[in-house]
Amino acid sequence: MVGEERVPSDGERVEPPASFVAQANVSDGCVRAEFADNWPGAWERAADLLDWETEYDTVLGGDGPPFRWFEGGELNASYNCVDRHLDERKNQVALTWEGRLGESRTYSYLELYREVNEFAAALRELGVEEDDVVTLYLPVVPELPIAMLACARIGAPHSVVFAGFSADALATRMEAADSEYLVTCDGYYRRGAPVHQKNKADNAAIAVDGDVEATVVVDRLGDDTPLAENEYDYCELVTAHRGETVEPVPRDASDQLFLIYTSGTTGEPTGVRHTTGGYLSYAAWTSHAVLDIEPADTHWCSADIGWITGHTYTVYGPLALGTTTMLYEGTPDHPEKDRVWELIERNAVDVFYTAPTAIRAFMKWGEEHPERHDLSSLRLLGTVGEPINPRAWKWYHEHIGNGECPIVDTWWQTETGGTMVTTLPGVDDMKPGAAGPPLPGVGAAVVDARGNPVEPGETGYLVLTEPWPGMPVSMAENEGWFAERSSVRPSLDGYDWAYFTEDGATVDEDGYVTLLGRVDDVINVSGHRFGTMEIESVLADVAGVAEAAVVSGPHDLKGEAVYAYVSAAEGADADELRAQVTDAVEAAIGPIAVPDAVVFTPELPKTRSGKVMRRLLEAVTHGDDLGDTSALRNPEVVGEIESSLDRSS
Ligand code: WTA
Repeated sequence: MVGEERVPSDGERVEPPASFVAQANVSDGCVRAEFADNWPGAWERAADLLDWETEYDTVLGGDGPPFRWFEGGELNASYNCVDRHLDERKNQVALTWEGRLGESRTYSYLELYREVNEFAAALRELGVEEDDVVTLYLPVVPELPIAMLACARIGAPHSVVFAGFSADALATRMEAADSEYLVTCDGYYRRGAPVHQKNKADNAAIAVDGDVEATVVVDRLGDDTPLAENEYDYCELVTAHRGETVEPVPRDASDQLFLIYTSGTTGEPTGVRHTTGGYLSYAAWTSHAVLDIEPADTHWCSADIGWITGHTYTVYGPLALGTTTMLYEGTPDHPEKDRVWELIERNAVDVFYTAPTAIRAFMKWGEEHPERHDLSSLRLLGTVGEPINPRAWKWYHEHIGNGECPIVDTWWQTETGGTMVTTLPGVDDMKPGAAGPPLPGVGAAVVDARGNPVEPGETGYLVLTEPWPGMPVSMAENEGWFAERSSVRPSLDGYDWAYFTEDGATVDEDGYVTLLGRVDDVINVSGHRFGTMEIESVLADVAGVAEAAVVSGPHDLKGEAVYAYVSAAEGADADELRAQVTDAVEAAIGPIAVPDAVVFTPELPKTRSGKVMRRLLEAVTHGDDLGDTSALRNPEVVGEIESSLDRSS
């Protein structure tokens, strides 16, 4: 949760300017009534944004799980994101890429079409068949969306693994997905220095139980990495298939388009499988209605494509709508702290979508950086990933949006495929700090532990009460989907179907939802999810660690920080152990999950029945009132932890 000024919003309303409303894709408030009166039929609006190979018979098949959105329909995502735009805009830029070393590259829709076809032909030749999972382990380079679209073309679901994840994390995901094909690169640059991605991929291949049939390597560093048998150079493959075309494979609306792993309450990452028809319709609809994207726009979603945000709002949504989507490989402060604003000015970006953690960093660096640039091309701003505090909202509005651009604070999750709770920028007033009402057609409620809606202003749990097109396969199929999740969970018996989001929230009189953060054991670091159990199980394997617990702590920029409480085994050296703990997390997950603080304690605080009291650790970490500690078996450790925390800060 955001530490400072943690919501609720101060009730202030900000109207979208008339000039924005006049041009907005959706500016008629009747859209809400239309969805209310004709549900689920009104979801046709989303499906109508796509071209279907076979028209669907029913908007929503199934009265209960399994739900089948756009039943009977067939389509291909690569066709929708590429081929169908050729008639009208073959020479318009589809992808514009800004590399880490200052280089840039663009692909027109025609160039994108050619390379997607050539790589699809290459994948086929390597043996990839419909429904085979292809793992993509690439940083933000154009070959990543090209490979995604090539997979989609031949009906092979992709599984993109964030490039910063470790070899072990890659191996776990390849194994879990039964994936025998890998596309990676020799390396990439991080703050000017090369990271050797291929080494990580090699180590993963050794760890994967079973054969990797083929590995394709994109040459990013230009340093002639030697290739073994079954390893292929991306550029050579594409050249060998120059000019070939591959018919887009018609996929059923419910067929899988991709899977993506995310952290949950369990120790293992969960594979979330998204569908071709429902997901793509939802990506296109929310890009159209919420991000207000038009073909003539340059859209920049700054998330890495390795996360769901990049999948939906860098790749699938913008390309389905035929716009120019911008890819940025670098970091926001390299080479200078005005990098983002320089890129917006140079590319005349219309819509900029980023995370509160980035906005807090921009604020800290100072408004002199954006002030040096002409940002007048911007029409709309967005945020995602964590709650945005009103102060950061207002800074973004004033210094980046010139007090004019509407801001959409979009609440959603890997599981929802696209945004669910936010304002329609051409219709609704904004309230800084509150995400907004559920989108038209989305059923959402804030309920208490018994599943009853809470009164305005009271805290409860956010639940989704109706299916939506962007729902993943498992949720569509399984009635008890939500019930398998965390132990903190409201009763949802009163609903025919409902999904528990694991987020705490309040709702105001106007139905605007303010998010309060996760209520499960997931830590949101800079908008990225990590399960505490996932990190704890890594720590437990470090020799020298007797016991460890991981909780969320405060962090000014990242929103939340990972705090690891470790009790060391007899004779272990604290400094060495701290380094080992860091190395172990880096090796098992990646640098982004490394604890911000490793706090040593003789014992973890435990209840009389021997359970670690995480809630107490969290309170200590935040410096909150500890309340009653009489249930503890070892209350004396609390004082020791407090003094270790003082020493470590
Ligand atoms: C949090 C990212 C407040 C929330 C798309 C959710 C938010 C988790 C917002 C999902 C927002 C996302 N306001 N909190 N606008 N957007 N969250 O799966 O806790 O990486 O459950 O998806 O991020 O994270 P995920």
